[in-house]
Amino acid sequence: VSSVSISRAAKLTGAPVIPGDKSISHRSLILGALAEGRTEVTDLLESEDVRSTARCLSAMGVRLHTEGAVTLIDGIGARGFAPPSDPLDCGNSGTTMRVLMGVLAGRAHRATLTGDGSLVKRPMRRVAEPLRRMGAKLELTGGDFAPLTVIGAPLHGIEYALPVASAQVKTAIIMAALSAEGVTHLRGEIHSRDHTERMLADFGVVVERDDSVISILGGQRLRAARVEVPGDPSTAAFWMGAASLVPGARVQLHGVSLNPTRIGFLRVLERMGARVVTEPTSRAAEPVGRIEVSAQALRGATVARAEVPSLIDELPLLAVIASQAEGRTVVEGAEELRVKETDRLEAVATNLRAMGGSIEVRADGYVIDGPQRLRGARMSSFHDHRIAMAFSIAGLVADGQTTIDDAECVAISYPAFFETLRALTT
Ligand code: S3P
Repeated sequence: VSSVSISRAAKLTGAPVIPGDKSISHRSLILGALAEGRTEVTDLLESEDVRSTARCLSAMGVRLHTEGAVTLIDGIGARGFAPPSDPLDCGNSGTTMRVLMGVLAGRAHRATLTGDGSLVKRPMRRVAEPLRRMGAKLELTGGDFAPLTVIGAPLHGIEYALPVASAQVKTAIIMAALSAEGVTHLRGEIHSRDHTERMLADFGVVVERDDSVISILGGQRLRAARVEVPGDPSTAAFWMGAASLVPGARVQLHGVSLNPTRIGFLRVLERMGARVVTEPTSRAAEPVGRIEVSAQALRGATVARAEVPSLIDELPLLAVIASQAEGRTVVEGAEELRVKETDRLEAVATNLRAMGGSIEVRADGYVIDGPQRLRGARMSSFHDHRIAMAFSIAGLVADGQTTIDDAECVAISYPAFFETLRALTT
């Protein structure tokens, strides 16, 4: 249980290496395990969450190993998973648990999934419900939570309107659809991050999609692929945000995913008046490019519901940025923040107020009037990596010293965060 202290930054410059995208890293391991043949993943994220996925797959007989920047996965195909003898520990990772629910629903054995104190409080019925319509059998604690048991059963395709814009739910259904009989059609809130849809094409699977429907034919086999994991835009966001606030700052970020379903924060930062330059450098399955941000006076912005999925993980950081911008920032339609690693709306409000800032928290978002003078304070990370990192950035523009308790949770997605922060500011 470690604490980290941060003081006002006199400078912030550099070109930090941005670690691999977390969402794509989870999916590379899972799709690689399901494929026939050896999958080669370059620049897989090394972090606690990704280790949770690797650990669960290993427990079911999947062999993975890393040589330098390359991780090799010996796929065991749809039927090769061995029944796990112990509960599978998903740690803090919602993606691991939810996606594995979909993977395991159509297998011939039973598996119990559990996780840490945060994960066992997060809603899982949103995955169980559509899977049950496909014929799956699942037992959830209290009807909605882990520990949960997936009892393999034969599945059939369904028509389903997604009620929440969640890529984890969408991916779980797509995974189940691959082992189901017939076709699955997804409608409704399908515009969350689309890495699964893009990556499946590389694994030889046909996913049909347009603006309103995603269709997957069951029984398709995955064949091994090569995956190059781009830099994580949600990680890059912390340096983009920091560079937009610290006077005279400038950062360059290379090899970051510019997937349109992920770069809402970049777009909002531009609307706020930040100086942002992006330059696409490659257009493989995932568009990738260079991002440069330098400090500039900011003004408030409005983020409406439709835009929220494209910056869902950046909304705690956006609150910090908004506190330094002239005028009002409004975020609407972001009630999902309440069921992340912690209730991120409450956590943001508690910490911003501890620093002398003010925020109106609503059921589905927040209103912040800036600019506000922040003063250093001692606060909790709420064991949430993105809260720890967002308020470290706040510490860079606050008077005095900011101390974040339980800061080691940054290792969930970005183990080198504090080291990189030091390098950029000294
Ligand atoms: C993720 C999807 C998002 C995001 C999470 C990673 C993914 O969650 O918040 O950090 O990899 O699919 P939801 O799908 O629950 O919105």
